[in-house]
Amino acid sequence: MPSLEPASRILGTGHYLPPTVRTNADLEKMVETSDAWIVERTGIHERRIAPEGVVTSDMAAAAAKSALEAAELEAKDLDLIIVGTVTPDMPMPATAVFVQQKLGAGHCPAFDLSAACAGFIFGLSIADQFIRSGAMKNVLVVGVELLSRVVNWEDRTTCVLFGDGAGAVVLGPADGAMLDGKPRGLLSTRIHSDGALAQSLMIPGGGSVTPMGPEVLEQKLHKVHMKGQDIFKVAVKNLYGASKAALDDTGMTPEEIDWICPHQANLRIIDFAATRLGVKMDKVLLNIDKVGNTSSASIPILLDQSLRAGKVRPGHTVLMCALGAGISWGGAIVRM
Ligand code: ACO
Repeated sequence: MPSLEPASRILGTGHYLPPTVRTNADLEKMVETSDAWIVERTGIHERRIAPEGVVTSDMAAAAAKSALEAAELEAKDLDLIIVGTVTPDMPMPATAVFVQQKLGAGHCPAFDLSAACAGFIFGLSIADQFIRSGAMKNVLVVGVELLSRVVNWEDRTTCVLFGDGAGAVVLGPADGAMLDGKPRGLLSTRIHSDGALAQSLMIPGGGSVTPMGPEVLEQKLHKVHMKGQDIFKVAVKNLYGASKAALDDTGMTPEEIDWICPHQANLRIIDFAATRLGVKMDKVLLNIDKVGNTSSASIPILLDQSLRAGKVRPGHTVLMCALGAGISWGGAIVRM
């Protein structure tokens, strides 16, 4: 949605990464792969793995607490909690209600949304609409994944890619906030889905199509199945398309953007998309080497790390873009 007058702005960000590191060398001992293959094809050197006993809502709540602190708000101030995840605590109820409990928030609505790696951008877009309409004031948007529990650790084509983590932002009314004569806030969000490519990336078992049972367990249908090449091709095209549309909404050129904060799925995808946009890699924020693909958590983790490192500063414009299972994808531009 184009929004020349920003309705909402980011009041605070936070992230959580579990302390356990799984390196490419560790994976060499688990499947037939090599550090050289993983680094050359993906840019990933290591990823974080949540220890037994830690669940998705624990990581989400930790990231959310940090975002609330940065926003100088209490959990009770939240009007809405949106959790983007494809690795919920359980199918029912929503992980968002466990996050609400763990934060000690009030009886605000709390729901999950399933847009895989694009989940955070979908969440931002929805939160912005609620704030724009005046229905809500402070909205928590979390991207969180515990992918290590749904990855088939015997499948080298997927297990090397993913990691665990959570990122969160608190979005609040822009209230006409300005910096250096320019409005601060969410300037545009663009979100899309194309179910024709649903087969390319799925956890096919355990739902109504093939309910949990011996067949699901034997064939590992409760684990991630991906046709990487299919996704790769469309990712470059659609990340460019959504980014360009978001830029057009704001009337900005790629040169006017301070930072690109792309979903961290594959360094080659990021490189191709940046080249197509005409942006040099020194403007692209990266942490894929350290965390791998954390799906919906990827962008908010990277944004928070970059803000805390002083790289992204108040007044900077950041273009975010992501694509994942669905396929679902999107782009967003924010002036911090
Ligand atoms: N180690 C060693 N060899 C491997 C590995 C591995 N870990 N994985 C695959 N190979 C082999 C393959 O078997 C194949 O061998 P062959 O040529 O003998 O058949 C060869 O390497 C090349 O395989 P490709 O699949 O063609 O490799 P590609 O360069 O495409 O890289 C990758 C694979 C990294 C998965 C890439 O396609 C990709 O990143 N795709 C997009 C993923 C993505 O963005 N997903 C969406 C987000 S995730 C979400 O929404 C939850």
